[in-house]
Amino acid sequence: MESEASRWFQSLHASFSFTTISLIIIITIFSLFSLSLSLYLFKARLWCNCEICHTFITSSWSLQFTNLCDWYTHLLKNSPTKTIHIHVLGNTITANPENVEYMLKTRFENYPKGKPFSAILGDLLGRGIFNVDGDLWRFQRKMASLELGRISIRSYAFEIVSFEIENRLIPLLSSVSDKEDIMLDLQDVFRRFSFDSICKFSFGLDPECLELTLPMSEFAISFDRASKLSAERAMTASPWIWKMKRVLNLGSEKQLSEAINMINTLAQEVIRQRRKMGFSNHKDLLSRFMGTVNDETYLRDIVISFLLAGRDTVASTLTSLFWLLANHPEVELAILAEADRVIGASLELTSLEQMRELHYLQATIYESMRLYPPIQIDSKFCLEDDVLPDGTSVKRGTRVTYHPYAMGRMEQIWGPDCLQFKPERWLKDGVFFQENPFKYPVFQAGLRVCLGKEMALVELKSVALSLLRRFHIKLAAPHHSHLRFSPGLTASLCGGLPVLIRGRRTPS
Ligand code: HEM
Repeated sequence: MESEASRWFQSLHASFSFTTISLIIIITIFSLFSLSLSLYLFKARLWCNCEICHTFITSSWSLQFTNLCDWYTHLLKNSPTKTIHIHVLGNTITANPENVEYMLKTRFENYPKGKPFSAILGDLLGRGIFNVDGDLWRFQRKMASLELGRISIRSYAFEIVSFEIENRLIPLLSSVSDKEDIMLDLQDVFRRFSFDSICKFSFGLDPECLELTLPMSEFAISFDRASKLSAERAMTASPWIWKMKRVLNLGSEKQLSEAINMINTLAQEVIRQRRKMGFSNHKDLLSRFMGTVNDETYLRDIVISFLLAGRDTVASTLTSLFWLLANHPEVELAILAEADRVIGASLELTSLEQMRELHYLQATIYESMRLYPPIQIDSKFCLEDDVLPDGTSVKRGTRVTYHPYAMGRMEQIWGPDCLQFKPERWLKDGVFFQENPFKYPVFQAGLRVCLGKEMALVELKSVALSLLRRFHIKLAAPHHSHLRFSPGLTASLCGGLPVLIRGRRTPS
């Protein structure tokens, strides 16, 4: 009896000690969390009551502006330096080309992506090129430049894109052509198209997303979900909020982790199939990386970054391009006239040489991205206290963001007609000329300039030309003078782009 009581006492004591220790641990974690949160709030000035921060916190900008980027544009236009501060986000935002050149080239080392950015996208992108600095970035940049810088890469891209257009895109549009009651979401079509193209180009595999008879690939769906949810992390007032939700596996963080698990499984499958098919004599990017990298997770990260780079950007550009063309029939007619002159009225585009002569088409695509850049804002992280060329001081550990969307709408850069869609502004005596990339950082500029620009231009021009020459594409929804974007890493339209398709004529 005595020994039973003593055992009971011992177990009570043990469980009491366990509970006490647990309580102490929980209280310590909670205190540390509160302390860090207070420090964070203090540092980030979350209570700032200036007019801009107040408008941001209360979202009252939405009473006057359709999109957050339109409100930023308004603020930047009215700032004498073309630079503003959002104190509560610890973010300096600029639309000043001199500042952009300074961040992206002159003092590149002081403006890396930085840890806060890597943390936001870390679960999705891992150590992929978009999410790293230093040696990891240099290695991937070098490898990818070797591949993407080859002259033959344009013909390879042209081959892939032409197959996808001829065998999937045109049959899909033809199947709904001249049917007044069938609407097509062109944004969705372009996403499927660019997903197929970038997968074939980067990994040599075909997910067949645009194949009418097949459902949208699980990979593409999870990828959309994960990039949307990752982008939403950047919009929470404090990173603690999403970090706590991640620890507790709650709400959007739970969904994100499920989407990423699916992506991981599928990325592993892509790598496995590529290995099985052999990778030593293949032209795709993954095969090149596989020759040097053995680490499966690192390969997975590389795969995901290239998907992100090449898929949504192209789909976003095509969507706004077709929206602009539907509102500017005179530009559409000028593209068609140029194509008839260069290629021949009833002939197909057959070579990259012909494509190079389509100056008006190239000007139209650049002009469309000036007003609607697929990546509307791009943030860097300031390593050491600095002063930007316009005199703005930036503190170490804060964000510095340049804003291509606002820059495309600045009178100082583009003149008083900056809001008009005018491809002619890119032509001198009928020949396309490049603008200073720091005034037009749509493909970024400086040391981290986009590596896929040439491939993207081949894709954009091929699709635009093939569709415009065959179909008349009419907006199904009533005309809106403003596009409404949904939150994400790249610009995408809320509600897609519903259109009606009519047959035009077929080049033989
Ligand atoms: C219209 C289409 C495109 C636009 C507007 C675009 C724009 C950009 C921008 C703004 C960046 C800088 C992102 C950052 O570091 O924060 C970037 C980087 C990059 N892009 Fe593109 N891109 C396009 C298409 C493509 C395509 C098709 C590919 C691949 C084949 C590609 C590959 C890359 C890569 C690898 C980087 C990372 C460069 C680095 O960090 O050194 N892009 N792109």
